[in-house]
Amino acid sequence: MSVSTPTDTACGAATIAVARSLADLREWVAGRRAAGMRIGLVPTMGALHEGHLSLVELAAVDDHAVVMSIFVNPTQFGPSEDFDAYPRDEAHDFALAQASGVGCVFAPPAEVMYPDGFSTTVSVSGPSRGFEGAARPSHFDGVATVVAKLLLAVRPHRAVFGAKDAQQLAVIRRLVLDLHLDDLDLIEAPTIREDDGLAMSSRNRYLTEDDRRAARGLSRGLFAAMALADRGETSSVALIAAARHEMESEPRCEIEYVALVDAESFQPIAQLTSRSARLCTAARVGPARLIDNVPLRATAH
Ligand code: PAF
Repeated sequence: MSVSTPTDTACGAATIAVARSLADLREWVAGRRAAGMRIGLVPTMGALHEGHLSLVELAAVDDHAVVMSIFVNPTQFGPSEDFDAYPRDEAHDFALAQASGVGCVFAPPAEVMYPDGFSTTVSVSGPSRGFEGAARPSHFDGVATVVAKLLLAVRPHRAVFGAKDAQQLAVIRRLVLDLHLDDLDLIEAPTIREDDGLAMSSRNRYLTEDDRRAARGLSRGLFAAMALADRGETSSVALIAAARHEMESEPRCEIEYVALVDAESFQPIAQLTSRSARLCTAARVGPARLIDNVPLRATAH
């Protein structure tokens, strides 16, 4: 296993292990387990930003040793999607991971994750239907397959995923239930936003200044609906209309969908109840396809 030297010795960060193979990964994890530590996993595709670092913080709670995977997973990109353009900057990612307290970065080459003859796909139906699943037909198969492989390779005590990818989270929750990974604590990390409300995303790097202004339409729309729900509105028609109205004030924000769904099943709902729901949206802004959501629940009035 290679061990990178600290890039920022001034902050006194400990060294970080970089595992490129499953054997190296397992050796690092086994060492921590032997020392009595529990393991937290943060799966990522790199291009790290503050949102990712907040996941690390949640993974490390109660002295968990943190493994972060950095792998731009080819199977979750469609043929016309941005796999080639997806931002990659290992040196920067490793430095950020190290400074945020990650103990081991698992950064395998594609042939380690998908060796010759690879033939297994983990396919979660239910919550993967519709919305992102409709727009990106093989996306959730790719996500579920790589996440299942990471969970089985690391067998973490806790794994942290961002609420920004709400449908992905619902798919992974279902996967964990269905594969009886009962000893795993699946943690949902709240969405981290820029000062102007834009949800942090590695794909925000695709936005020009003009795109960036238009992209604020997504969060403005969601917040408008949230304010309406706080005033007692429960109808999906009214909540969606409020979000759309705000988003449509940004002509460069091309809405794909705005939907109110049950947070677990990801099925559309007509009315907010005491169950946890999400108002979700996807929109194209310039070269980027952005998604965002807010949690909603009926408030007692
Ligand atoms: O959310 C992501 O970055 C990816 O979908 C994940 C969970 C790391 C799987 O490749």
